[in-house]
Amino acid sequence: MHRLLCALLLTTAAAVDTDKTCASDDCMAAKQVPVALLGVGGVGRALVEALVGARTHHKDVYGLRFDVKVLADSSGYLAGDLDDAQLQSAAAAKADGKKLPGATKGDVDKAVASLGEGALVVDVTASGSTTPLLIEALKRGQKVVSANKKPFSSDQAAYDALVGHPIRHNNVRHESTVGAGLPAIAALNRLSMADDKVRKIAGTFSGTLGFVMSGLEAGRPFSEVVLEAKAKGYTEPDPRDDLGGVDVARKALILARGLGWRLELSDVNVEPLYPPEMASLTVDDFMAKLPSLDEDFAKRAKEAKARGEALRYAATVEDGRLTVGLVSVSTSSPLGSLSGTDNLVEYYTTWYDPSPLVVRGAGAGAGATAAGALADMVELSV
Ligand SMILES: NC(=O)c1ccc[n+]([C@@H]2O[C@H](COP(=O)([O-])OP(=O)(O)OC[C@H]3O[C@@H](n4cnc5c(N)ncnc54)[C@H](OP(=O)(O)O)[C@@H]3O)[C@@H](O)[C@H]2O)c1
Repeated sequence: MHRLLCALLLTTAAAVDTDKTCASDDCMAAKQVPVALLGVGGVGRALVEALVGARTHHKDVYGLRFDVKVLADSSGYLAGDLDDAQLQSAAAAKADGKKLPGATKGDVDKAVASLGEGALVVDVTASGSTTPLLIEALKRGQKVVSANKKPFSSDQAAYDALVGHPIRHNNVRHESTVGAGLPAIAALNRLSMADDKVRKIAGTFSGTLGFVMSGLEAGRPFSEVVLEAKAKGYTEPDPRDDLGGVDVARKALILARGLGWRLELSDVNVEPLYPPEMASLTVDDFMAKLPSLDEDFAKRAKEAKARGEALRYAATVEDGRLTVGLVSVSTSSPLGSLSGTDNLVEYYTTWYDPSPLVVRGAGAGAGATAAGALADMVELSV
């Protein structure tokens, strides 16, 4: 069976090299997949570790070997046959705050282009500036994996060029853009393939806001829970980046586009968890003013509790509208029974109604996100 898998991979891998150093007797060679890895931050470094750690597993089970030939950060890059020791030492240098050797404009694009058809371009940056590179890569027959949601949640034209509808999942995988390693887009794909019509998607996509909602449900003041979330490092340095809801809106937009909806981020109705007059304050002033919101949140949480409900900061995709904000849901629903920092997505469809299909688990963390990207890389390569 395993020999057959190896033989199949070899005969279908016309555009790629094979690795003749395969240790196992029954697998003569592994399909070598050239990789350009863009981004060496928390997720990029976790991906380097995961990729190196999974070498034997990928070779023995899938007959695959990923060869990183381009490694880039925001201002520099390494190119060539980078071995595992070089990758790990570059990752360690990045963890120490160093920069990769400097690149001039266009160098990384040229290095990626030189990898040719069939190569994987993996975007684990946090920048929208990679969008043209990803689009060009797809045009030349390369494949794209991304944990970076910006290219997929900017203008519709970029999304169409990258993903289209139905999702071109043989060429592009962006699973980790929504819910880190959770198979939220994969679930959507399978529903679409079965023509199981999606009536509604409701989800919480922010561990930080999940933590805040659990605190409110437990009767704690809003300001106290936000302060604790900040102290624990759950929030961005400016907590408004979380409390504003835009990150949640980007993820929900990616799911809505996965349904074939055509809309822009500006079409999403986002309710931030603070009033507009607090938007322009310094971070310190914002934190100092937070207690002024406690009374209103406590009242809303108490009213929800009296109805057997709980407050959640959720995205809802339904009836052609995408809304992001506070909702009050039954504590017996999947969303209402959620606690802590987990993410959860409910899909209400022809076959999953009234009980929805639910995907739930850790929705953040460099390791889980890198694992999602690595699974995408394997799926595009076998
Ligand atoms: N961490 C999570 O829990 C999580 C969960 C789901 C999704 N994600 C997504 O995963 C991505 C990476 O997250 P992270 O936490 O690793 O971010 P990060 O620590 O900020 O790292 C981003 C990396 O991208 C590099 N970069 C920026 N622009 C670039 C460009 N144009 N070309 C090449 N490299 C570029 C940066 O370079 P410098 O080092 O030079 O600045 C840095 O190495 C983000 O899009 C994030 O939203 C993260």
